[in-house]
Amino acid sequence: MIKTSRDRMTDAALFEEAPDVFWKGVAERLKWMTLPSEISDVSFDKDDLHIRWYADGTLNVAENCVDRHAEARPDDTAILWIGDEPGTSKEISWRELHHEVCHMANVLKARGVGRGDRVILYMPMIPEAAYAMLACARIGAVHSVVFGGFSPEALASRIEDCGAVAVITADEGRRGGKTVPLKANVDAALARVSGVRLVLTVQVTGKDIHFVHGRDYWWHEAREEVPTDCPTEEMSAEDPLFILYTSGSTGKPKGVLHTSGGYLAWASYTHDMIFQCDPGDVYWCAADVGWITGHSYIVYGPLANGITTVMFEGVPTWPDAGRFWAEIERHKVNVLYTAPTAIRSLMKDGDSFVTKYDRSSLKVLGSVGEPINPEAWRWYHEVAGDGKVPIVDTWWQTETGGVLISPIPGDPMTKPGAATKPMPGIKTALLDQDAKPIEGAGNGSLVLTSSWPGQMRTVYGDHQRFIDTYFSAFPGNYFTSDGARRDEDGDIWITGRVDDVINVSGHRMGTAEVESALVAHEAVAEAAVVGYPHDIKGQGIWCYVILKAGHTSHDSLGKELRQQVRTEIGPVATPDVIQIAPGLPKTRSGKIMRRILRKIAEGETSSLGDTSTLAEPEIVDVLIRGAEGER
Ligand code: PRX
Repeated sequence: MIKTSRDRMTDAALFEEAPDVFWKGVAERLKWMTLPSEISDVSFDKDDLHIRWYADGTLNVAENCVDRHAEARPDDTAILWIGDEPGTSKEISWRELHHEVCHMANVLKARGVGRGDRVILYMPMIPEAAYAMLACARIGAVHSVVFGGFSPEALASRIEDCGAVAVITADEGRRGGKTVPLKANVDAALARVSGVRLVLTVQVTGKDIHFVHGRDYWWHEAREEVPTDCPTEEMSAEDPLFILYTSGSTGKPKGVLHTSGGYLAWASYTHDMIFQCDPGDVYWCAADVGWITGHSYIVYGPLANGITTVMFEGVPTWPDAGRFWAEIERHKVNVLYTAPTAIRSLMKDGDSFVTKYDRSSLKVLGSVGEPINPEAWRWYHEVAGDGKVPIVDTWWQTETGGVLISPIPGDPMTKPGAATKPMPGIKTALLDQDAKPIEGAGNGSLVLTSSWPGQMRTVYGDHQRFIDTYFSAFPGNYFTSDGARRDEDGDIWITGRVDDVINVSGHRMGTAEVESALVAHEAVAEAAVVGYPHDIKGQGIWCYVILKAGHTSHDSLGKELRQQVRTEIGPVATPDVIQIAPGLPKTRSGKIMRRILRKIAEGETSSLGDTSTLAEPEIVDVLIRGAEGER
């Protein structure tokens, strides 16, 4: 039986009184091969930065997420897979999950993949994606899942950065009635980088694909050739579990590294506390495994807790806006966890798509990935949740491994849009520009003043970047790059990123990445990208583009530039607005004034502030007129 801990006040009090006892309890949720006697060894001092949790403990993550439940409840459902095509679904029992994970692990081992090797997963939302993650964990390999909406170019750079030896993919992915050429993208990526000696492909659509002899294998064939049983590797708590690339304020995505014991303990603890599921409940996180939400709250958290987790191959709006609610009725789903962007896109199609289905099974509705606007929160609560179901607005990041600030069911629900209070064990502060803590109500930069087990340990291959990015702005603290407000009741409201990262449909994107994709086009001299408010996506991507001398704008240029970004990064980064401009607002020292570009894109031109320090102030009016034409 998994230990549960759902009383926030009790846990918070325990943490205050005896933090080590609290953290020991969090660790004891897991099955350890050697129970850790050490709790943590952490310093946020940038000259001596180190973060270690439960370091003398040993365990295997797959044993925790699979074997212990397969022994206790072999016939219960571990994964409920819901296919893209309405009406298709499959239940995978814990026994089957164990069987499949062992097979996949043995296929990897048989081809020389082992402890510490990096394996890229570029997969659709099929059970094999979870098998692959857990198979890596079983043998001590480190997975790095790349979202299927990234291009071959982006895939290649991730393969190269982590030095992957194997790629697991599918012939094609299916999403919203369309297909994604995953294996062809892998082939294109592998034409650019070396080092990959195994490509394992899951057959999904049956599309003809290209195979390289001696490198490429079908999963369904390879699994027939390996034994069913695969022992688990004994891993140190601090051994890496996975790398997940995420965007920052430079052009190059960072490989966020998470380790085994602390990450899993935190994913398990927060999943239990926030969603409060019991065995037999059906829990649905509608994210993609390509993002951290899919890692912690589709795969690791719920499976560690022995909870039936839904894997959904499709999209909320196909074939129509009733898809979520139809599946909730059909499978008696108890928890739905999704992003505000999905909620907003469903809202606009009207309530009848929701109300015609029975949603009485729902106990908790979760939100993640971006600030939820009060209107969307209310609709989620009142229409989707019939005014009865609590909303948990969970704030966290790829870097934090699991949720850090969130309401939990049972809290009074009076504040649409507030992430409310830190989880037990989490110490936040709001700092002003001089790094002084803001006491009581106020706005500031959100930092974590102490560590938690699910914290990332480093940027893969670039520890200095880890230190510079997170521990330099406010020495002694982890800086989230988010701004936040604390109200009179002490509740926290996330106000959004304060760096050059934008949040498009809950997908995190560095404006610098989009800029470097644009300038790779032969006609582009310079580009500046900002986010602007978008009704559905939360933020849209607005690109100011300066052409090289001798190039003029033409009808298909916008299309070409959009395609350029899709090629360099992928469809997830497709620009919404491309404004061809004669120049950019720059200071006399040549620095682009992004604040002005953001205001122009937002249409907030009455509050541009002081523009007199610009090298060419007259460019501002030209940009404003141009922007009006784009809106
Ligand atoms: O700005 C915050 C926003 O998403 C960022 C983290 O993005 P990512 O690493 O992709 O992880 C997304 C899933 C955890 C944060 O810096 N964010 C995430 N959740 C919320 C949020 N903003 C407001 N409210 C949230 N609940």
